[in-house]
Amino acid sequence: MINKTLSEKQNKQWWYGKIAYQIYLKSFYDSNGDGIGDIRGVILKLDYLKSLGVDILWLSPCYPSPWADQGYDISDYYNIDPRYGTLSDMDELIAEAANRKISILMDLVVNHCSDEHEWFKKACEDPDGRYGRYFYIEDRRISGELPTNQRSVFGGSVWEPLPGNPGKLYLHTFHKKQPDLNWENPEVRESVYSIASWWMDRGIAGFRIDAVTYIKKELPFINRPADREDGLCYIGRSKEIAEGLSVFLGEMRDRVFVPRHALTIGEVFNAQENETEAMIGENGYFSSMFDFSHISLGQKKLGWYSWDPVTIEDYKKCVTEAQQRIAGIGYFSNVIENHDRPRAANRYLPDSGRSEDGKKCLALAYFMLRGIPFIYQGQEIGMENYPFKSADEFDDVTSIDEYRVSLEAGLDEERALETAAGLSRDNTRTPMQWDDTDNAGFTTGEPWFPVNPGYKVINAGEQEGRSDSLLNFYRRMSGLRKAKEYINTFAYGDFIPEYEDREGLFAYHRRGEKDLLVLANLKEEEEVVRIASGFGILLNTMDEFSTEKDMLHLRGWQGVIVEIDEKK
Ligand code: GLC
Ligand code: CA
Repeated sequence: MINKTLSEKQNKQWWYGKIAYQIYLKSFYDSNGDGIGDIRGVILKLDYLKSLGVDILWLSPCYPSPWADQGYDISDYYNIDPRYGTLSDMDELIAEAANRKISILMDLVVNHCSDEHEWFKKACEDPDGRYGRYFYIEDRRISGELPTNQRSVFGGSVWEPLPGNPGKLYLHTFHKKQPDLNWENPEVRESVYSIASWWMDRGIAGFRIDAVTYIKKELPFINRPADREDGLCYIGRSKEIAEGLSVFLGEMRDRVFVPRHALTIGEVFNAQENETEAMIGENGYFSSMFDFSHISLGQKKLGWYSWDPVTIEDYKKCVTEAQQRIAGIGYFSNVIENHDRPRAANRYLPDSGRSEDGKKCLALAYFMLRGIPFIYQGQEIGMENYPFKSADEFDDVTSIDEYRVSLEAGLDEERALETAAGLSRDNTRTPMQWDDTDNAGFTTGEPWFPVNPGYKVINAGEQEGRSDSLLNFYRRMSGLRKAKEYINTFAYGDFIPEYEDREGLFAYHRRGEKDLLVLANLKEEEEVVRIASGFGILLNTMDEFSTEKDMLHLRGWQGVIVEIDEKK
């Protein structure tokens, strides 16, 4: 019983039954001892990734960049940053990955480039000329005021003086070293399509598309009511109001993606319900997009200091709703962490559950959802947040800004540090913990960012040989999801929630050719469920389970997948 609401075409994409992995290159594996992860490092770890069942690798940006925002500020779209390797290393990675049936996705970062890109340099030389039209450049008001009161994502005004042109300002949604590209200019769009096509023609399978809903601006730029005491209004607000994003996205799809059968995953935040179909439906702009609904849970308008903590029950409700909403429309890409968020073990699990048992149970809950599961590097071994002791340790621009915002809001230094440390993007950017040798085996040199001191206990080497480790549990999950008998059900089966009112129990059926019941008891207390017909246990986070007639007893933090056998 294949999901009837989706068309035949949608049900036949090659990536439905696949497993994806996100690599944050700088911190993955350093092959030459300079303390920075690199492309050769990824090549050396391809067998590890293969053993995890990975089919699709998303590489965070590896193009030349001044690293004001860790590579999301690109100064040359047609090359590899020398600290990461060369174009021929990239070609080798694509080929070696292909030998292992692994496809590569690159990060397409085209809402903005770097202020060190030649386009921007030329724009500064001649703001009224050809390259000036690549950006949003406005004259300074006679009164000296900025053109508008928008606040950038990383803090402060979106307007920055254009170097060498005191009377002019340029727009940056993110860091001031990330000037926004003007998509209204057809030449900019052509440039973007050429870049994306060039990489695809080199053999990559597609892209994760960065910050893509920001490419359409609300024009002309106008002031908005301030949402904080700084008198500014978050730029994201204008993005919600702007109309016409679909024109750009549709054009990019038709010009680049469709002719090359690209796999594209959009970084789409706060998609309105009526947009989902356009984004990832039958003729959607993307093959899939991340389900960020739970990632945004607890967020408030003021800074990080005002955000609410999130419980497992919040997570479950949010994901259940998202899965139901998407059912007849398309496929999500499912994540519990990425390079922009803290570690999932810290965000979702209470202290009592931050153990291998808790991590396995959470992993089971999200991994079997309908959509493509994405594993973020280190998640498969249960890496945790970095124990920041001082604000000087932050590298990430947002963490530095949010620390300042907290202090300005009146928090003392300790609380401000706690706030920024809890949500810092640095948490997921620390070096991968490969083993318990110096620097967790990430580098023989000095790592660019300190290794989490927890590496002596949490590392891949230790988990490799231990059959009940989290790493081996991830391998079992991939194995099961892709097993011949079950792949269709996991890929195409419906998502049907079960026991929704039982707190801390995240349970759902994946129902297709088979009926598979995923039960994740995400709390300390035991849970008992009645399973009416015959059943068999397909996967278990613990080595045993107990049943009594048709009652299944789940211990605290135990998760299982049950195959319901209708014949019995
Ligand atoms: C995306 C990236 C993030 C980056 C931002 C600006 O949200 O995931 O890391 O800072 O875009 O490019
Ligand atoms: Ca290196």
